[in-house]
Amino acid sequence: MSWETILYDLSDGVVTLTLNRPNARNAISRQLLTDLESVLEAVSATPEARTMVIIGAGDKAFCAGADLKERAGMTPEEVADFLQTINRVYTAIQNFRLPVIAAVNSAAFGGGLEMAMSADIRLAAESAVMGLTETRLAIIPGAGGTQRLPRLVGMAKAKELILTGRRIDARTAMAIGLVNYVHPLDDLLDESRKLAREISEGGPIAVQQAKVAINRGMETDLQSGLAIESESYAKTIPTEDRLEGLKAFREKRKPVYKGK
Ligand code: COA
Repeated sequence: MSWETILYDLSDGVVTLTLNRPNARNAISRQLLTDLESVLEAVSATPEARTMVIIGAGDKAFCAGADLKERAGMTPEEVADFLQTINRVYTAIQNFRLPVIAAVNSAAFGGGLEMAMSADIRLAAESAVMGLTETRLAIIPGAGGTQRLPRLVGMAKAKELILTGRRIDARTAMAIGLVNYVHPLDDLLDESRKLAREISEGGPIAVQQAKVAINRGMETDLQSGLAIESESYAKTIPTEDRLEGLKAFREKRKPVYKGK
C-alpha cells in the first residue's frame, strides 16, 4: 500500500503513518487530506491492525498546519470546502475503530495540533512545540480546535491558548494534560509503539467499545453515559474473546484474542 504524502508501516499489529511532506513541514495540503482519508479506509479493512501511530517525517515538524501556500491560491469557496473535508477526516480519526496515538515529534501548529487532538492519546518529543496559532493569521481554529482543546484541557486554559495563539513547549503541554508523556525525540516512536502494543494486548472489541463509550459518554450527562457504557459492555458479552480471557486466566497463561 502506498500514498503520495503518507508512509505506511504495519508491524506487531501497530500501523505507523508518517506524514511525509518534510519540505513543507508536513503541512496539510488537499492531497494529504485525500491520502489520509484513503489510508484510514485501508487500515480499517486490515484485520491484523490493532492500533495506529501518527508521526511527522523529519525532525522539524509533526505538522505545520494547513498548507498556507496552497491556501493563498484558494477562493473563499475552496477554503470552505477544505474546512469541510478536514473536519470530516479528523472526525474519522476521532471515531476510528482502532486507538490512535499521535507522536508529536516536533512543531504542531493549527491543523497539525488539531489532528493530534483528534487522536486518543498524545506523546510528545522534548523539543516539540505546539499551538493553535490561527488568530495570529486573522482566522480561528477550524478543524475542531475550539471544541477539542477545551474538552482536553478545560475552558480557561483553552481560551488562554486560543485567544493568544501562543506556542507552548512539550512540558507545558504535559502539565495541562494536552499530552500524556514527553520523551527524548530519539525514543518517541519506540515509546509510542510500545504504548500501542500494550493497548493491543487487550481484547480488540473491548478496546474499541471502551473508546466508543468514553467518546460518546463525554458528550452527555452521567445517566446517559452510563447507558452508553452498558450498551458498549453488551457488545463484549457474546464474544469469543471474552471466553478466551476467562479461560486464559484459569489456565494461568496469556490470552490469545482474535477480535471475535
Ligand atoms: N504551509 C506551507 N508551507 C509551510 C508551512 C505551512 N503551514 N509551514 C512551513 N512551510 C514551509 C515554509 O514556507 C518553507 O518553505 P520554503 O523552503 O519553500 O521557504 C519550509 O516549509 C520550511 O519552513 P521554515 O519556516 O523555514 O522551517 P522551520 O523548521 O524553521 O520552522 C515551523 C518550522 C513549522 C516552526 C514554521 O515553518 C512555522 O511556524 N510554520 C507556520 C505554522 C503555522 O502558523 N501554522 C498554522 C496554520 S493555521
